[in-house]
Amino acid sequence: MTHPIPIRRVHHVELIVGNARLVSFFCRKALGLDLVAYRGPETGNPGSASYALARGDLRLVITSPLTHEDPRVIFLALHGDSVKDVAFEVEDLDGVCEVLEKRGATFVQRPCAVSDSHGTVRIASIKAFGDTVHSFVARGGYDGPFLPGFESRKRPGYDSGLTGLDHFTVNVEGRQLDRWVEYYENILGFHTQETWEGKDVQTDRTALHSQIVTSPDQRIRIAINEPAVASRRSQVQEFLDYHMTAGVQHLALTTGDIVKTATAMKENGLEFLPVPEGYYDRISALAGQCHLDRDTLERLNILVDHDDKGCLLQAWTRPVTDRPTLFLELIERRGAETFGGTSFKTLFEAIEVEQARRGNL
Ligand code: FE2
Repeated sequence: MTHPIPIRRVHHVELIVGNARLVSFFCRKALGLDLVAYRGPETGNPGSASYALARGDLRLVITSPLTHEDPRVIFLALHGDSVKDVAFEVEDLDGVCEVLEKRGATFVQRPCAVSDSHGTVRIASIKAFGDTVHSFVARGGYDGPFLPGFESRKRPGYDSGLTGLDHFTVNVEGRQLDRWVEYYENILGFHTQETWEGKDVQTDRTALHSQIVTSPDQRIRIAINEPAVASRRSQVQEFLDYHMTAGVQHLALTTGDIVKTATAMKENGLEFLPVPEGYYDRISALAGQCHLDRDTLERLNILVDHDDKGCLLQAWTRPVTDRPTLFLELIERRGAETFGGTSFKTLFEAIEVEQARRGNL
């Protein structure tokens, strides 16, 4: 087994979008994140605008390029608003990069130092799936509001109860799943937690394959999907057709109270994925077992599942982008450590219904 890279946590997730000011407003008002820092023309950075938002252990950076020379303009044209970087925090950047180099990682940014009056942070980035990268951030004793170049910009969000990032899910091209699982195993030292194929992730029309890879301490979990052959277009293929390349399909945000969070987000205008008919009849016994009120679950489109450690509650939004690419998941783990078989299959079926509505089946 490959020795794991010592990653402390996901430092942040950066999205490249067409209008960072509006998306950051959405993150505050619809999701309930706090704006904490800003970097842009007013802070001496004329080429782009970035808004750092946080809540609990979740940090998002929303960036827009402002000039036509910026290569991120091409990223936007190809993918639309999309995740560009899932950045990990490490302590010893040089040690980590030496190992990454030996394991064949492709560097897009060699270790470099960025400084401001609060101190110095060292950063490197390697290529990941599609046009996405993984940055490695060593903060040292840096005590600024986010990263060097960012200035404090405190604007509280509407509190919806989000607490962190549980996992993110990646869609990759057909027959590329094994390659990307190997990437996380061989480059970062992650291991496979679960594999999904066959009847759990297929209908009589479409199918996908999926694997979950995790860091040894399970703090970083990544689900990877590829389209599978079936009579109609897989929902993973629909994503790829709009996104051009592999990319992040959804971010799963943790909450300690999914009923509170989903209620707040729904009131704020977020649309949740409708749950297939008959679902709540099938799970009413499980809902009771988990001391949950079926009507509340049904009203908020919350799915319930369990493993041998406890219950798992999840709800998914419709895409938050106009392209049917990026969406969000709310997840409350009441002990459960896995991803729940019934909910995975139900999500798959629910997305297929939406795919048909878009005329893309
Ligand atoms: Fe998920």
